[in-house]
Amino acid sequence: MSESDPQSIGFIGTGAIAEAVITGLNLHGDFVGEIFVSQRSEARSRRLSDRFANVGIETDNQSIVDGSQWVFLCVLPEHARDVIQQLDFRNDQTLISLVAAFPVAELAVLAAPVARVHRIIPLPPIEHGVGPLPIYPPNSEIAALFNRCGHALEIDNEDHFSAFSAASSVMAAHHRLTATIAAWIENQGLPPEVAADYASHMVHSLAELETRCSAEELNSLAHDCLTEGGLNEQVMSELQKAGWFEKLTRRLDRIAVRLLAVD
Ligand SMILES: NC(=O)c1ccc[n+]([C@@H]2O[C@H](COP(=O)([O-])OP(=O)(O)OC[C@H]3O[C@@H](n4cnc5c(N)ncnc54)[C@H](OP(=O)(O)O)[C@@H]3O)[C@@H](O)[C@H]2O)c1
Repeated sequence: MSESDPQSIGFIGTGAIAEAVITGLNLHGDFVGEIFVSQRSEARSRRLSDRFANVGIETDNQSIVDGSQWVFLCVLPEHARDVIQQLDFRNDQTLISLVAAFPVAELAVLAAPVARVHRIIPLPPIEHGVGPLPIYPPNSEIAALFNRCGHALEIDNEDHFSAFSAASSVMAAHHRLTATIAAWIENQGLPPEVAADYASHMVHSLAELETRCSAEELNSLAHDCLTEGGLNEQVMSELQKAGWFEKLTRRLDRIAVRLLAVD
């Protein structure tokens, strides 16, 4: 608990990411304030309130807003505008949106007279107290809270913030890559749990190494693993020939265009 933490926070939309954030805040973020969630997503809300004594279930979205110093908007992008238009905010509240492609300027108009509007991009591993969490515009109180259950990055440019949103689109592909390696090991005759154990810990250890690198070191890590005529060189040159890395860059370009088109 930090002195700058709010006494109460509320979640409009109690879906997958709201559950991960609430779990991370409670288990790793040392957050002791009240947390209000929506009755609407009943199974998830009940699971949260059964698990954490500080989670209370409210019957409607306005009650969540009324009881909260900070309000997190966690509904799908296609519902966000309708949902926020129906809510009345006070001028002492902070609105924190998780919704992609919903700019701060538009949120501020729809939530007027709310005092502060911010956007954040938590990722599912926040549940375990890890992962990057960009915040736009910068806010030291939000950063202080989320630095206790992840790695907060305060960003002062909304287009730059959107680049992180685009970059997070590789999550599913990353998991598929790890699962493909595990499945291949399993196909060599190993038990599935052993295969998954090796693949996931290998990927985890490589990511751990990456987080300790400077930008320059990160750039040269792949090269450092290449021994002439070695196994890594063979895989790398075949993937390069197939255009893997250029394709990934082009796909991220397309995602960024999609996000900017809505912003
Ligand atoms: N998942 C991620 O990794 C991630 C990461 C960063 C940001 N985000 C953003 O976070 C938002 C939520 O994503 P999600 O993955 O958590 O989606 P989700 O699991 O589908 O959750 C959305 C929740 O909103 C609820 N909802 C819909 N309309 C509502 C309303 N009028 N009032 C109250 N609740 C309402 C839904 O309830 P019902 O189930 O009853 O319809 C559902 O529980 C999205 O905008 C997404 O872009 C997600």
